[in-house]
Amino acid sequence: MMKLYESLAEKITLQINSGYFQPGDKLPSIRHMSKTHQVSISTVQEAYRLLEDNKIAEVRIKSGYYVMSSKAAEPKLPRISRPDPTPVNVSKWETIVDLLYNHEDQHTLALGKGTPNVSGATIQPLLKLISRLSRNAQINQLTYDSLQGAETLRRQITNMMLNSGCHLHYDDIVTTTGCQEALSCSMRAITEANDVIAIESPSFYGSMQIIQALKLKALEIPTHPKTGISIEALEMALEQWPIKVLQITPTCNNPLGYVMPEENKQRLITLANRHDFAIIEDDIYGDLAYAHPRPRSVKSYDTQGRVLFCSSFSKTVSPAFRTGWCAPGRYIEQFKHMKYVSTACGSVLQPRAIAEFVAQGYYDRHIKTMRAQYLRNRDRMIDLVTRYFPSSIRMTYPQGGYLLWIVLPDTIDTTLLNLRLADYSFSIAAGTLFTASEKFKHCLRINYAQAMTCEIEKAIATIGNVIQRMLDESNHVT
Ligand SMILES: Cc1ncc(COP(=O)(O)O)c(C=O)c1O
Repeated sequence: MMKLYESLAEKITLQINSGYFQPGDKLPSIRHMSKTHQVSISTVQEAYRLLEDNKIAEVRIKSGYYVMSSKAAEPKLPRISRPDPTPVNVSKWETIVDLLYNHEDQHTLALGKGTPNVSGATIQPLLKLISRLSRNAQINQLTYDSLQGAETLRRQITNMMLNSGCHLHYDDIVTTTGCQEALSCSMRAITEANDVIAIESPSFYGSMQIIQALKLKALEIPTHPKTGISIEALEMALEQWPIKVLQITPTCNNPLGYVMPEENKQRLITLANRHDFAIIEDDIYGDLAYAHPRPRSVKSYDTQGRVLFCSSFSKTVSPAFRTGWCAPGRYIEQFKHMKYVSTACGSVLQPRAIAEFVAQGYYDRHIKTMRAQYLRNRDRMIDLVTRYFPSSIRMTYPQGGYLLWIVLPDTIDTTLLNLRLADYSFSIAAGTLFTASEKFKHCLRINYAQAMTCEIEKAIATIGNVIQRMLDESNHVT
């Protein structure tokens, strides 16, 4: 059971997460806290000390406790990637099965997965809405949904997309079963076997598997850990290869966490218009950008309907609802056809519950809380990795979401590292998952969505130790 000071610390943390106390704000005095919460002075002192240990608050001599405002300094960043300049086939399905499905035992701390924190109070209203809708469901609702998906949800999505600068009509939106279906229908709507599709390097393994299944050729483009795909490199590739589609995650990228500057997003549209290619924009983490208001999407600069904008509630709310969408622009008819081929329509009740969740303002409140929490976790995770990993590493400085990409010395193979970590019941995502070639063997991705508990600190310390041992062994051999 939680101790009194722990539950007080949690209450204050929630107030900070919801923006009631902002970074740099002075927290109420110990005496004041003790009065308002009707607890002893020592309980408040313990609670404040816990917040200090968790780097949520800091003490200033002779002044009191303040909400932590100092962010982790930008770490030494990975270098821009240099992938092979030729379109290739994608493989690696077995490695993905291994990452996602073979370590399902509940004792494994799966730091490699891309799952959000779903344990916060701000999700609870959604569960209530689902049970209310189920209770009140009418018999005539127990049928197929329309091909385009629930209008109530599409209306809310068009409102949400205003935040990324997109002014759409709800008939421009098609709902999908998660973002994976949005990406898959997009690619199937506009490509044929052997077409060349340009992607980031590293790139999300789920979209690469669609490329593989459709027998497309993936052309990895050099990608900078701060600004994203290199426009210059893309321009050069366009001169050389018949690129039909560009598939990118420019806002809170998975796995690098960057937000592409808006100027580059505009330049991409100019290039697409000039060279006549389509852009599949994956915005699944976009609403989790730490900057507020959130950055504009590439789609928001598109005047010719070339961008198929894909997203879902999987990272912002929960992947369990399998609710996503696409704004496919000029390709909407082909897209709807591919959705019919894929699932015909999604489930009926959950999208309506999510629509209510958004309409009643719960989504915005939830995002505000999670954004603050993930930003704090980022700084804490960067601190931990800096403390426990060898000093020669490089890592990203994510501007949104909850994924950190770490580059180890190149003698370390992170697939082997993962095998060793299984002995300790930890897992990470090995870098090779994120490329169609043999790159990134010495890289890994970890998730910092969950509360930064002692368990996480111990895991990072252990991973750091195992890496150090592998380094010592490789030094010994050479
Ligand atoms: C960048 C990216 N796009 C798409 C997806 C798939 O999303 P969903 O679970 O909504 O199908 C993921 C999930 O990991 C992802 O990270």
